[in-house]
Amino acid sequence: MSLTERIILVSNRGPVQYGRENGERTTNRGAGGLVTALSGLSSQLQDGVWVCAAMSDEDVVVARESPEGLCPPELGHDDLRVRLVALDPAAQDDFYTVIANPLLWFIQHHLYDLKTGPNITRREIEAFESGYAAVNRRFAEVVVEEVNKAGGDATVMLHDYHFYLLPAEVRRQCPDVVLHHFVHIPWPDPDAWRVLPPPMRDALFRGLLGNDVIGFHTEGYARNFLLGCQELLHLPVDLSAMEVVIDGRVVRARWYPISIDPEAFEAMAESPEVLDQERELAARRRDHLLLRVDRTDPSKNIVRGFMAYDLLLQDHPELAERITFLALLQPSRQDVPEYAAYVERIQTIVDDVNRKHGTGDWHPIELHLKDDLDLAVAAYKQFDVLMVNAMFDGMNLVAKESILVNRRDGVLALSENTGAHEELGAFAVTLHPFDIQQQADAIHEALTMPVEERRGRRDACVKVVQQNDVAKWLQMQLADISRAAAE
Ligand code: F6P
Repeated sequence: MSLTERIILVSNRGPVQYGRENGERTTNRGAGGLVTALSGLSSQLQDGVWVCAAMSDEDVVVARESPEGLCPPELGHDDLRVRLVALDPAAQDDFYTVIANPLLWFIQHHLYDLKTGPNITRREIEAFESGYAAVNRRFAEVVVEEVNKAGGDATVMLHDYHFYLLPAEVRRQCPDVVLHHFVHIPWPDPDAWRVLPPPMRDALFRGLLGNDVIGFHTEGYARNFLLGCQELLHLPVDLSAMEVVIDGRVVRARWYPISIDPEAFEAMAESPEVLDQERELAARRRDHLLLRVDRTDPSKNIVRGFMAYDLLLQDHPELAERITFLALLQPSRQDVPEYAAYVERIQTIVDDVNRKHGTGDWHPIELHLKDDLDLAVAAYKQFDVLMVNAMFDGMNLVAKESILVNRRDGVLALSENTGAHEELGAFAVTLHPFDIQQQADAIHEALTMPVEERRGRRDACVKVVQQNDVAKWLQMQLADISRAAAE
């Protein structure tokens, strides 16, 4: 089959989210890096349907009104249908807040302190079956319906850790369909999966192996996946071809670093809203602006970042009143208890550092706990150093977006455990996420680096981001899908 035929995209969070204000329906763009990347992808699809979960109450109303989906004018593509899937609320809650986040997310980002968690009890086993598996089955039904509508000739592109069981279910019902899955988060070594009971982890691996091609951000994640197939499932794996065989079928593990649309992002950086925010920021900034922009996710290592800043101020009293650490943090997954507790820890350490070092009207840390894209982009343009100290992060698009539009020869201080470090690490100052002193020293090095060196590093980063853009990410995947289909 060729790629001009029907493409079925599947992700948990869709490109739009509906709401209701003063009796009127509102439409907002869906949040998160995945939606940003897939929006670029959707503009290149000629005939596609994007299947995603109804998340808000109004999404559920829309799903009931338009069970076949609708083309939201906001997306600007007349032939891209968005099909919202309404789910049983209890199943959706177990799927998202018990299994996907935290269990799978925590395993894949190494977030467990194994002395204390995870504790797999009947609650988790039941949530896996009646939440995660049930939601995957419901999505599989919808995908199969869409494949049948296309006369069986369709390419299914699945996204992320929410749908590991779905591919095998679709494969069972549509053996000839082409299935491609992109995993947006790290894939850890086989032992990390041993915290799950064997039936659960086997089901996850076997589910994912329903695909023809499985994409990751880096070669290391792809290799870890194949090693898991070998060690946990005892399947024959070829690490030079990066393939595994299951039930006589070849499944390919590939890597494609996700990226952004540089032109569109540059245009956004010049929008009137961003320019307003930038003027305001430039007027009140001090000599040095250290910036971080993150969801309040424990994997982002926000608390250790503030501990490193505390050390920096202690070691370098000459920075007093001359620096601000602007932390733009979007509250995330607040219905998952670990995430709510993490926000409290963030607030506590910010208060401590400000109390300890602050003087007069100088607040060493300026914390914004809200989602404000215009302010984030204005700050991208103004930073001297951007801190990305994630413990583990699949890619980290903030690093790519921010360096592209920065106007002050800013330096990336980038964790070695991000996918982005593979592409940009040579031009960044590397951070070791658990070594707080090293982070403090590295931030100081970045702040005091001669301007020519900063400029050279930034120019090199920009070139990488422009060359490896989101269009390339998509083309590489489509080429592999064509190859798999031809075979
Ligand atoms: O790939 C991880 C991801 O799905 C990103 O798209 C996004 O940054 C984040 O997780 C969003 O998470 P949630 O949909 O739970 O808000």
